[in-house]
Amino acid sequence: MAGNKDTSWIERSFDVFPGGSLGEFNLPKELSTVLSHGKGSRIYDVFGREYIDYSLAWGSAILGHAHPKIAEAVTRQVEKAFNFSYVTEQALELAEEVRRVIPCAEKVRFAASGTEATMYAIKLAKASTGRNKILKFEGSYHGAHDYGVMSLFPQRLVEFPLAQPTSAGTSQAISQEVLIAPFNDLEKTTHIIERHRDQLGGVIVEPLQRCTPPEEGFLEGLRELTRERGIPLIFDEVVTGFRLAYGGAQEYYGVTPDLAAFGKAMGGGFPIGAFCGKADIMALCTEANLGSENYVWVASSGGGNPVSMAASLATLQALRKPGTYERLHELGNTLREGLRQILRDQGITAQVIGDGPIGQAIFTEEKVVDYRSVFRSDRAKGRRFMLGLFEKGIFLNPLGTKLYISLAHTDNDIHAFLERSREVLETMEA
Ligand SMILES: Cc1ncc(COP(=O)(O)O)c(C=O)c1O
Repeated sequence: MAGNKDTSWIERSFDVFPGGSLGEFNLPKELSTVLSHGKGSRIYDVFGREYIDYSLAWGSAILGHAHPKIAEAVTRQVEKAFNFSYVTEQALELAEEVRRVIPCAEKVRFAASGTEATMYAIKLAKASTGRNKILKFEGSYHGAHDYGVMSLFPQRLVEFPLAQPTSAGTSQAISQEVLIAPFNDLEKTTHIIERHRDQLGGVIVEPLQRCTPPEEGFLEGLRELTRERGIPLIFDEVVTGFRLAYGGAQEYYGVTPDLAAFGKAMGGGFPIGAFCGKADIMALCTEANLGSENYVWVASSGGGNPVSMAASLATLQALRKPGTYERLHELGNTLREGLRQILRDQGITAQVIGDGPIGQAIFTEEKVVDYRSVFRSDRAKGRRFMLGLFEKGIFLNPLGTKLYISLAHTDNDIHAFLERSREVLETMEA
């Protein structure tokens, strides 16, 4: 990093934005910055400092920043039109591609964000069963709506399946309608589903929960459990979609849900959301059914806008190239293995979790399998590590979220990350 800091930028930012951020990017004021531009794996701030980006707009910029093919496609599109909120050639082409590669996708709709996509998927599941409760897993995130923030970061560990909103302003009625289960615990989940099966309208899961991989048989078991009881299973693929494999977690883990939601990487950095699934469930949002009891209202002014569609088509075209996913996994493995080695060398107890091009260090002795194992870890140490890296020019979200790697990251970028990790860990007190 280089450059002098004119603090008036930071003052302006804290003056107009709560916490000086766009949301959930909790940097202390002395580390806060204002960004200017990005290229590939690098981003630059208004002070002329360069960072290696391990946040990637929370995983959206999977090809890196300002990718020339995306820029070209978007530039071509903006000269034609920005938005119609109606079917375009680009939306059609993208929906057909989604249907071609995503195992559960018989029908597709677009939205403007991952939050919107999971919200619609949840409504469709409930409408298709006529039942109102939704089961989600403790510590999972499905967007900022009332369902998505239920028991997201609970600070009190209560009995399952009790739900606690992580955000104020959340409907109390929805707290009553959400059942919380422990990720990777099929036995407890089965018990909860059995007890509530007559009211349960759907189960939503992040196939890779935050950064915690599913244990062998967990997703398969969940699939069997829900199928046998006629409960729609929703995969929230906002993070895993087009990232773990081109066909998402469904392809990667070999488990097909009834519905799925996408966002982030699919747009290559442009705002996007998509939800898809079984034709009979998706048919519930056909406008001709307006007025019927199980009609689901779907309307997104920004959903399917041709600029995001063009960006997504260019992104997917690049991702389809042979070797893409081998490379993304190789980069992720190198980062995770390298970090494990450094921690071992320094005698620091930690677990490095993740899969594909994502990873995270959790400072704990125990195997990380769910929210509670993360909750019991030394989270203050985790934050100190992240802030230490940020100070050394690694751009990341110190909220304790995952590190994202793009296709633009080089072996040297991973090497630089590991070297800086070594330096930070060396200077950190136990
Ligand atoms: C698994 C998951 N689902 C949904 C969302 C919400 O997506 P968006 O921020 O595009 O609304 C996120 C965002 O981080 C996510 O990680």
